[in-house]
Amino acid sequence: MDIVNEAFASNWIAPLGPHVDAFEREFAELIGAKHAVALSSGSAALHLTLRLIGVERGDEVLCSSLTFCASANPIVYEGGRPVFIDADRATWTMDPDLLKLELQACAARGRLPRAVIVVDLYGQSADYDSILNVCSEYDVPVIEDAAEALGATYKGKMAGVFGKAGVFSFNGNKIITTSGGGMLVSEDENFIKRARFLATQARDPAAHYQHSEIGYNYRLSNVLAAIGRGQLRVLLDRVAARRRNNRLYRESLSGLPGVEFMPEAQYGRSTNWLSCITIDPKAFGATREDVRLALEAVNIEARPVWKPLHLQPIFAGCRTRGGQVAQEIFEDGLCLPSGSNLTDEDLERVVGIVQSIAGMRRHKI
Ligand SMILES: Cc1ncc(COP(=O)(O)O)c(C=O)c1O
Repeated sequence: MDIVNEAFASNWIAPLGPHVDAFEREFAELIGAKHAVALSSGSAALHLTLRLIGVERGDEVLCSSLTFCASANPIVYEGGRPVFIDADRATWTMDPDLLKLELQACAARGRLPRAVIVVDLYGQSADYDSILNVCSEYDVPVIEDAAEALGATYKGKMAGVFGKAGVFSFNGNKIITTSGGGMLVSEDENFIKRARFLATQARDPAAHYQHSEIGYNYRLSNVLAAIGRGQLRVLLDRVAARRRNNRLYRESLSGLPGVEFMPEAQYGRSTNWLSCITIDPKAFGATREDVRLALEAVNIEARPVWKPLHLQPIFAGCRTRGGQVAQEIFEDGLCLPSGSNLTDEDLERVVGIVQSIAGMRRHKI
């Protein structure tokens, strides 16, 4: 709060300012990235990345299928064509074997994709050793969409630092938020400089307003950066709270027939941004939709797992490698309430409802 007050007191409400620079520096330091630029959203960060990588009309870009539409929309902004890769059941993130098969097929066709967007899902990082191995074989850059995974680790390193660029979101529902905002990180200083330039309407260095390229209004304001700085200080507490939610849910629900939790991969530490389960209707005696509606009836919001992008009307006709795993996770998957401020009583209420549905349906059968 002190930092935000300072931003107002200094009257530096206009875009840019000292808190933006400090937020970028502190963020980069926290996750172990070399360079960072604060932006108006995660979507803006992805869009700039694709422009800088040089996606052009007709270019293919591979992307995880099990994710939010924002992971793939910027491919279409640039006239590119998304190609979707299925999830690995063991992590729910991109399946590296299917990625390899797709890249082999692209190479055989003589047309490699311009980039691969890998999503760190619901707080869990993808398997970067395998993914980077395959992509470096074909010299295709990896973009890490870590919008949902700030604070997660992969083999001891923070998520977001594995590709050519890493993308984060501070949208309202994320583990830390500036109400809206994003961050783009990279090891490549020039890449971040170019991103900063394009995000500021590509203004040439001249006293008057001169523009030789089309840019965007994608920067984060000084006030929102001040909020972000305050939020960074509570990140580790938030991760601990989210992991605790997950542990308590597991203790109470994992014994129910047909209930499985999103697996935590051995290679890293998930933030459990959202605690997700799948419900096998045959074993459980009710569907995930029955559970969601029972929660909704008492004003508790739970949401289905992302509908895979290869099943979305906007991406109809896009090529997909696999797809069945993401579809099954979607059909049976439910994101339980996962806020960092949930109390034991809140969690017990959710657990009680899920347990009662399981019991009820078993009686009926
Ligand atoms: C996986 C993923 N990628 C990208 C985004 C886009 O971030 P933003 O909402 O900040 O544009 C989000 C969330 O909103 C997301 O969950």
